[in-house]
Amino acid sequence: MIQASADAGTGGVTIRELRRSDGVSFSEVMLGSYGPFEAMLGLGTRGISEFAPLFRRRTWFLLKFFKTIGLLPLRFFVAAEGGIVVGTTMVIQWPKSGYILGVGVRPSHRRRGLAGQMLSRAEQLTAQRSRSWALLDVEEENHPAVTLYRARRYEQIQSTVWYRCSDPTTMGAALRPSSSVRVIGKSGRKAAAAWCARRVPGSVTAVLPPDAARLTHLESLGQFPGTARETWSVGPVDAPVGFVSACSRGNGLPGMLFLPAVDPGASRDDLGRLVQEASAWLTARGCTVVLAAVPEPARPAIPVLEELGFSAQLSTLTMARPLTVA
Ligand SMILES: CC(C)(COP(=O)(O)OP(=O)(O)OC[C@H]1O[C@@H](n2cnc3c(N)ncnc32)[C@H](O)[C@@H]1OP(=O)(O)O)[C@@H](O)C(=O)NCCC(=O)NCCS
Repeated sequence: MIQASADAGTGGVTIRELRRSDGVSFSEVMLGSYGPFEAMLGLGTRGISEFAPLFRRRTWFLLKFFKTIGLLPLRFFVAAEGGIVVGTTMVIQWPKSGYILGVGVRPSHRRRGLAGQMLSRAEQLTAQRSRSWALLDVEEENHPAVTLYRARRYEQIQSTVWYRCSDPTTMGAALRPSSSVRVIGKSGRKAAAAWCARRVPGSVTAVLPPDAARLTHLESLGQFPGTARETWSVGPVDAPVGFVSACSRGNGLPGMLFLPAVDPGASRDDLGRLVQEASAWLTARGCTVVLAAVPEPARPAIPVLEELGFSAQLSTLTMARPLTVA
């Protein structure tokens, strides 16, 4: 970002990195691209001021500094016409992949190949950084976007069902107490990641190995500056049967639960208490709504979530494309 790196454009549109002067039009395109998934996460309610922190002088200076020393993990590519942003994309470098998000094009500029060109830039950068995969999440019902990604050879590696509980304070009256739910804190996350890696399909761990920072990559969707996070396990200390992490994002936003995996044999009471404990932690932080992300390895928890008052909202697909590393 920061400095212009112009490409040959399409019909007066140039694909380049984001500039600080792009603040307003960048924010407009981002907001205009939000759909049901972002609405479920509570994004977009503050209008374009939601993006103001990114363009603050101090933040911009820090981004520029980290870019200069080659340590900036996040880059933005935009499509711009006459100084106005008409398309957006971001890419974050993770250990084995570049995670692409924020793909959007103004309605007036769609079907001209702009999203494809921005993706191409994000993929090139990722390959230059020696990552073998480009990766993204897309709402299953977003047919234009799913068609775009399939056309670019992205393939589904995981699906996630998102659940919502609109009254988390009343959940779980019928559950027996379980003494085996415990906070594992930061120090326990490395062992939790190793546990998850044994339960997640190889096709996912090849691209997204669970690590202490992210037991599931979906956790990154709940983490912003100022987010509080906690993690719990359930079952015997030396043989846990499930983990959950919770993110409280403040500002009245829904709290988020991430269930990376659960053992098929985990009991209803254990899983229920695990979810209940994490939800109570969120409600104590002012979250009045709780969302739960449930990828395939955590599906045995679904009946318990439904019993606790959660209902399915939508599904997202995690899609990946192999890259040729330079
Ligand atoms: C999805 C989106 C980013 C596509 O942007 P775009 O610049 O129009 O896409 P491109 O022109 O690069 O399209 C490339 C290919 O994707 C597919 N595609 C794109 N839009 C499509 C649509 N509405 N219906 C069917 N296929 C579509 C086609 O295969 C297209 O090739 P073609 O035009 O030669 O048929 C745009 O529709 C958008 O901003 N949507 C709202 C935000 C959003 O959903 N973002 C994705 C979040 S994961």
